[in-house]
Amino acid sequence: MQELTFSHLSNNDGSYKNTWEEDFRYTKSMKIRGLKMLKIASKVCKWKSIVDVGCGNQQLKPLVFRLNPEAEYIGIDRLNHCSDTIIADFNKGEYPKVTADLAILSGVVEYIYPEMIDRFFSWVCDTSPIIVLSYWPIDFGQKEIMKAAKRRRRPDSWVNHFTISEVITIFSRRGFFPEMIHRYQKSSQYIMLFGRIIE
Ligand SMILES: C[S@@+](CC[C@H](N)C(=O)[O-])C[C@H]1O[C@@H](n2cnc3c(N)ncnc32)[C@H](O)[C@@H]1O
Repeated sequence: MQELTFSHLSNNDGSYKNTWEEDFRYTKSMKIRGLKMLKIASKVCKWKSIVDVGCGNQQLKPLVFRLNPEAEYIGIDRLNHCSDTIIADFNKGEYPKVTADLAILSGVVEYIYPEMIDRFFSWVCDTSPIIVLSYWPIDFGQKEIMKAAKRRRRPDSWVNHFTISEVITIFSRRGFFPEMIHRYQKSSQYIMLFGRIIE
């Protein structure tokens, strides 16, 4: 598999190219995943406000209001599919100052450049005390297994390749612990829920 690097992602003018394109489809399976994530989070905490990080066309929004009609919903994305989306490109270091009881990262982490991961997750951890995210990790274990796992990933658009334990380490360094790690629909995609450790 060809590793994606910044040079592969550069536009002609030297700026970087995000790999989720404007005309990509937001599928029903993404919506179903979002609902599952909301339900998982609702078992752990009583949320009133939600920040939907990488909200796309805000498929999650009606589901949020179905579960809690009084909720505050904040959607953030680099694309303006909805008029009330806060526009920010995480790969350009754009991190709006928002806070919410719960942050949902559904299908977005795979598109964050490795160079930006630290800043991205620092911002996410400052934004909410509870974070639920989906991610397709590479399997941990022997190198050969990891290489095979990488080949199954989407080389055209997924730009980072972490194991589950690396994701846990990213959060634990910021004072968050994994409350739940759920293998989603028997696939190699996971839904993970992290909570801030209360001192
Ligand atoms: C797979 S879609 C998921 C959309 C939505 N969360 C859902 O589950 O229906 C990924 C979303 O992440 C957004 N995204 C990818 N890279 C981004 C970046 N660098 N900054 C902000 N948003 C980004 C894309 O624009 C897209 O809307």
